[in-house]
Amino acid sequence: MWCKRVNSIPAFDLTQQYKLIGEEIGAKTLEVLASGYYINGSTVERFEQQFASYIGTTDCIGCNSGTDALYLALRALGIGAGDEVITTPFTFISTASMISAVGATPVFIDVDPQTFNLDLDQIAGAITPRTKAIIPVHLFGQPVDMARLTAIAQSHQLWVIEDAAQAAGADWAGTKVGSFGHIGCFSFYPTKNLGACGDAGAITTNDGAIAARIRMLRNHGQQQRYSSEAIGINSRMDALQAAILSIKLNYLEGWNAQRRAIAERYDQVLRHLPGMTAPKALPGNVWHQYTLQIGGDRRDSIRQKLQTQGIGSMVYYPVPLHLQPVYEHLGYQSGRLPVAERLAQAVLSLPMFPELSQEQQEQVLYALKDSLI
Ligand SMILES: Cc1ncc(COP(=O)(O)O)c(C=O)c1O
Repeated sequence: MWCKRVNSIPAFDLTQQYKLIGEEIGAKTLEVLASGYYINGSTVERFEQQFASYIGTTDCIGCNSGTDALYLALRALGIGAGDEVITTPFTFISTASMISAVGATPVFIDVDPQTFNLDLDQIAGAITPRTKAIIPVHLFGQPVDMARLTAIAQSHQLWVIEDAAQAAGADWAGTKVGSFGHIGCFSFYPTKNLGACGDAGAITTNDGAIAARIRMLRNHGQQQRYSSEAIGINSRMDALQAAILSIKLNYLEGWNAQRRAIAERYDQVLRHLPGMTAPKALPGNVWHQYTLQIGGDRRDSIRQKLQTQGIGSMVYYPVPLHLQPVYEHLGYQSGRLPVAERLAQAVLSLPMFPELSQEQQEQVLYALKDSLI
């Protein structure tokens, strides 16, 4: 099983995917360029329909990024100054910063040590008369228990905005994430499971009125040209990105299956390595990241040793959001959300991309085993 290192292995590698579908993308790109329609239009509408049907919602609205998707979602629900939104501190900054951007306040609760997702038992205790919404994040492709979360939200009449930026294709009990909440938000940042060749994002919903409002807000608050009904932004989708995403969507299920196979192989070995905890493998996980926990303050030294052997790895996320300088004014002290704080010290994401070969993976595992000596 163990083999010696041959080449360096990056944490992710987009060149392999491009080699596979480069010709298809190139031909479609030239077609879009020749069409003269570069923003919104039929190419974007086609992708929106394809993605809505893939996720299982009536509507999908393309936009410029996952960050914009969150901003537009909050604005569409009328969330703003004086409102509170419950979310996780163990995520990318956008999840919380967009709550702040609309003038509301993020309320952070701790996460589950096994799934890294919101600890659903803590939601009820965080609800106040100002609470308007919950934003669960399907972190690293791991689905949140949406059956339970939506039941909690319904009983308190709260909006649910799913941050599915890292979870295109993930499901909870057979239903795709992004279709449970009032709104689902996706990022198509290039390294995501479904990635564009630049920035792009999308919003999914089963509510036609919400969809119409988002379409208006993403285009300067206009329903008709030069007649703005609300303060909006420019967050339209490029036709080139939509065309590329339409092609890649056909491959997504296969790529996610490859990610699952890689995760299973990592699991088989890591189960036996001392001081390391393999991530929990829920059936609907699409393994955006394969993230270990390494105990005993050894994470950084192990990462360093991997690096000297040419093995890339990442730390998502080294500082939980409640302890970010930008949220100092909210008054969270260190120790307040202990699970997220401990994870920030212990997590390490190993190379994970569909084209990672078995041989490369064995090199990663060999280096990891070596780093324990
Ligand atoms: C959980 C999460 N939410 C939101 C975003 C924002 O997406 P984008 O980079 O497309 O703005 C990201 C991107 O990394 C993310 O991981």
